[in-house]
Formats: sequence, C-alpha cells, structure tokens
Amino acid sequence: MRFDILTIFPEFFGALPDQGILGHGVVSRALRTGLASAHVHDLRSFTHDRHRTVDDRPFGGGEGMVLKPQPIFECLESLAIAPRPARDGSRETVILLSAQGKPFKQSTARRLAALDRVVLICGRYEGVDERVSQLLCDEELSIGDYVLSGGELAAAIVVDATVRLLPGVLGHADSSRYESFGEGDAQDLEEERKGRASGGGGTDASADVQAPPRSTNASNGLLDYPHYTRPAEFLGVSVPEPLGSGDHQAIRRWRRQAALAKTLANRADLLSGADLTDDDREFLATLGYRRGD
Ligand code: ADE
Repeated sequence: MRFDILTIFPEFFGALPDQGILGHGVVSRALRTGLASAHVHDLRSFTHDRHRTVDDRPFGGGEGMVLKPQPIFECLESLAIAPRPARDGSRETVILLSAQGKPFKQSTARRLAALDRVVLICGRYEGVDERVSQLLCDEELSIGDYVLSGGELAAAIVVDATVRLLPGVLGHADSSRYESFGEGDAQDLEEERKGRASGGGGTDASADVQAPPRSTNASNGLLDYPHYTRPAEFLGVSVPEPLGSGDHQAIRRWRRQAALAKTLANRADLLSGADLTDDDREFLATLGYRRGD
C-alpha cells in the first residue's frame, strides 16, 4: 500500500526508508521490501511567491496563522487525487491530522490497512483552512485529546499502526491479532466457553494441550496481558509461577486474569464493552469490580 504525506517539514520524516521517524524496525523493513511505500511531499514546493508562503492570518482576527488551502490543493492535484466527490468508492482516503478529528483507534488502522492508498495531510500553526477538510479530505483524525504543534507525529503514528497490520509485515501471522486492541479471538473464546459448558470437568476441552497457548485471550476489548522474559527473578521480583509451569491451561488462565486486572487498573472504561465470560466476571468481582462500575 502507498502513503503520501503532505507537510511543511519534510525533514521530519528523514531519508526513507532508512532514516527518520519511519526508518526503524518493522516499518522500515516494510518500506524496504516494498510491502508499503511512503512518499513525503513538501507543501512549500506548491507555493508561488518568493517567500514560499504556506500560511496566512485568520479571517475574523485572533492569534496565530492558518495553513492556506491552495498549496494542499495543488499538491493533491500533482498526485492525481481529485477533490472529494470524485473519489467515492475508491480504495484510497485523504486524511487531515488535527486535534479536532475523530479518534484514531486500532479499528481505524485496520480499516486503513485494507486500502491501496492513504494520503495524510499534516496540519500546522493554529489550524488549517476549513475548506481543506470540507472539500479535499475524506476524514479528519486525531491521535488523542491533546494538542500537538503539528500533525507530523500523528501521521507517523498512523503509518506505523497501519503498516504493521499489512499481511507479511509482522513475522508471525498472529502477532497483531492477540495484542491489546487486536482483532482477538472471539472464536477461540467461544470454543473455550463451549468446552466448559459441555462439562469439561474443569479441563479446557477446546485447547490443544500439546500446543503452547496460542491465544492470550487478551483482546476482545481488553488490554494485553503482562509479558516476562529471563531472568526468572529480577530485583527480587519473580516471574509469576504459572508461566514457568509448562501447564498451558494454567498459563492461559493466568494471562486472561492478568489482562483483566491490567485493564481494570489502567482502562476500566474498556470493561463495559469487553467480551467477558462468567469466569471473567467472577474474577473481576474479587478485584472489586461490578458491572456498571
Ligand atoms: N495536530 C495537533 N494535535 C493533533 C492531534 N491530537 N492529533 C492529530 N493531529 C494533531
């Protein structure tokens, strides 16, 4: 898939694919291997005055400067991207990054990862002329409830979160499915439930006990479970016992409960929308959580 990034600070993205904020790790590798491409466009190249002016004073007065629509329009035109109505039904989207946008979430990244082309316009100064959003963009996205000095960091975050979901980018096909906010394993969970309901006698009938627990179940709206590596003890703190036991069912159970505890501690708001089993609710109740809390 292809990303086009429109900015007045092209240096922010460095010399792709090896340098700059996108020049590391899986994103850099995806760019180098051609699974994705990113093209950075300097909005000043689409100005026509001696000072390469990209901003102007706000109508109505007030603080700060506003990014002009014309350089953005001409840049999009040079990329053969038509103003909005003509784009309907295509596999591309034009996004304005701004603090006023809709929240960018994992589900947004999944939707973008299914497209052929994503154009990211980085806002700056006090704002961007509203006609950019109105006439040229399909959507306006914010990465969080805070105001950045520009959309460049936000654009890099959108690229990173999207690229790692592209087929072939992550080493293991499942590595993005079972993490926090991952698509998760509703099916696994359902199978596990059925296993229990059919009188598994405490054993997990659906789990292949020979295989390592493939799923953490730490998705379906929960945060990921905590991870540990060697040493088994660090600064007096030991790795939780079930993780070293080799008992896959015990590991699965510990991870599920740790994910529930972590979610309760850090993002209790997620629990009301999470896919919880009776066991989950019982466990949460031991931590003092009640539905509707
Ligand atoms: N530009 C300024 N603040 C922003 C935010 N929170 N998200 C995306 N772009 C921004």
